[in-house]
Amino acid sequence: MSDNTALGIDFGGSAIKSGVVDVRTGELVGERFTVPTPTPATPAAVAEAVRLVIGHFGWTRGFGMTVPAVVTDGVVRTAANIDPTWIGTDAVALLTAATGLAPTVVNDADAAGLAEIRCGAGVGRRGLTLVLTLGTGIGSALVHDGHLVPNTEFGHLQVDGRIAEHIAAGSVKDRRNWSYETWATHLSRVLAEYEKLLRPDLFILGGGISRDADQWSHHLTTTVPVVPASFQNTAGIVGAAMTAAATPSPADDPREPAPV
Ligand code: BGC
Repeated sequence: MSDNTALGIDFGGSAIKSGVVDVRTGELVGERFTVPTPTPATPAAVAEAVRLVIGHFGWTRGFGMTVPAVVTDGVVRTAANIDPTWIGTDAVALLTAATGLAPTVVNDADAAGLAEIRCGAGVGRRGLTLVLTLGTGIGSALVHDGHLVPNTEFGHLQVDGRIAEHIAAGSVKDRRNWSYETWATHLSRVLAEYEKLLRPDLFILGGGISRDADQWSHHLTTTVPVVPASFQNTAGIVGAAMTAAATPSPADDPREPAPV
């Protein structure tokens, strides 16, 4: 990396948000750029949107991108809230072909978790922290002493015979027209299961709904300390940029044969 900035792109249900980030501070350098998520959000349509983003910033280096799904070795493995054709898509190959640049692809909640631990509500926290994003689904990032365990997908844990994100995601509150208090009761039930399973030292709760945390956090019954996320709309962008900045360029990768 020639300076301390990297481009992060956050693929969400309604928008693809992007920005250049100072990865030491997590601050955006310049304006955020947002394009609507295409419908249907097929891999090809999203790759085209990413090409527009790259063009907008005139970006010429590697970049980071989130996907709201399990991602291993750059391949998308699940599609709970995205177009099913993503399953099995090699997102790194797709975005390399679309942009001619080297992308790093990461789960959206893992990106948000990294942003919180490095520069947000989790700074200086030791022990086990569970970062949850409460949006369309529930995303999870499990961090122990600053180290991320990727793709935990606790939003898909069964709670009382139902999938956790179907009980307490932010979108469920909107759909059911629940008060914050009612929603917090359901979220408490989910947090109780996470508490039993993991015994975390801290929950960091993010997603758009964390903006109103003062209206619901006092209704939670978990005994684990809870703090709202510091990054709201930008957590995914910041974490994606941090992931890209931490990824060695192909020239530095010891697995690559040395140039002759
Ligand atoms: C997906 C996760 C994602 C979360 C938040 C879940 O449905 O399975 O991968 O992190 O939604 O977007």
